[in-house]
Amino acid sequence: MARTAPPLRIAPSILSADFGRLAAEIEAIAAAGADYIHVDVMDGHFVPNLTIGPPVIEAVRRATTLPLDVHLMIEDAARWVGEYARAGADLIGVHVEADPHLHRTIGAIAALGKKPCVVLNPHTPLDSIRWVLPDVAQVLIMSVNPGFGGQKFIESALTKIRDLRRMIDDAGLDVEIEVDGGIKLDNIDRVVAAGANVIVSGSGIFGTKSYAETIAAMKARGAAAATPAK
Ligand code: DX5
Ligand code: ZN
Repeated sequence: MARTAPPLRIAPSILSADFGRLAAEIEAIAAAGADYIHVDVMDGHFVPNLTIGPPVIEAVRRATTLPLDVHLMIEDAARWVGEYARAGADLIGVHVEADPHLHRTIGAIAALGKKPCVVLNPHTPLDSIRWVLPDVAQVLIMSVNPGFGGQKFIESALTKIRDLRRMIDDAGLDVEIEVDGGIKLDNIDRVVAAGANVIVSGSGIFGTKSYAETIAAMKARGAAAATPAK
């Protein structure tokens, strides 16, 4: 039976925002048409960079009603999901490379009433998530090695997105595909055409003059490139 195509969503990564004016940046990006706020949590261990934790997420939560898409780039994520749920996360993404007990963590996120998401580094095979796919709301395919904004898109991510889209469709699941890293106005069409529907962009939005014009152009190009649902 034909299924409805999942909606295209733009999730600006606040890693590239001006942290000194964070609330104003979030209000601006929400007014500009963002669908999610993508929040990058880094612990200086799993990735070679350190960013923010629950208190800042609480502040972000107060600044917007948009869903907070929290990308945990931390070791021992299972221990922290409760803190992030309480801080205001709506989707909680856990790296498969950082968690040997994914079913348990995914179950804990769902039990907290939040949407579980699994995240794969660029070299991690899709097979590593095959047995959790029915239990997650979203899979996040990294198209850069996580840790920093402004890196170059890794082209092999496109094949991986296509393979994942096929895996999800063949299983008849409603799992959303998010892609993160190096996506800008000039390549969003290829990412969406491959089968992604949630697009993270940091420098590709915050580095432009008009957030609203950039997001509108991304949505138009993405919609034109979207493949019909099977
Ligand atoms: C990278 C982060 C990304 C990053 C994306 O580790 O997970 O969310 O902020 O930034 P751009 O879009 O600039 O590659
Ligand atoms: Zn991210």
